[in-house]
Amino acid sequence: MGRGRFLGGAFVGVLMMVGLAGCGGGGSSRGGTSPLPTGANAHNSALLAGRTIFTAQCASCHGLGGQGNLGPAFTGGRLLRDFPNPQDQVTFVSQGRGVMPAFSGILSHAQIESVVAYERSVLDVLK
Ligand code: HEC
Repeated sequence: MGRGRFLGGAFVGVLMMVGLAGCGGGGSSRGGTSPLPTGANAHNSALLAGRTIFTAQCASCHGLGGQGNLGPAFTGGRLLRDFPNPQDQVTFVSQGRGVMPAFSGILSHAQIESVVAYERSVLDVLK
């Protein structure tokens, strides 16, 4: 009985060490993709396309989850406040400003509309 307890204790100890090492390995935010649309938007093809474009073209400066990096964060309603009309955001992304590149020569108008919709309805609602 005493020996069984000892082995059990050692096993739990190893599990705890593995758990701690896992925690030190970096958060899930370091994964390679941006959040999927959820709920009623889960199968919206424009939003899914926008997500792919965002991950490839925008996440390097705005963060995979829109949390910001070199460029500003798209959270807490910022985009809805700065661009009450979504078409103004489409124009902004097409033309760029300062460090923010102009995407009119890189993405089609439809692609820019998709990524704008994704930013507004998936990222900007996250806290
Ligand atoms: C090279 C870095 C970089 C990349 C790549 C980039 N952005 Fe930006 N973005 C910025 C910076 C910097 C600003 C702030 C510009 C300013 O205010 O003068 C900005 C601002 C914005 C804004 C305005 C935010 C606000 O509320 O004022 C939007 C919208 C935006 N970016 C969308 C996008 C989209 C969509 C993409 C991908 C298609 C993208 N950005 C790619 C750097 C980047």
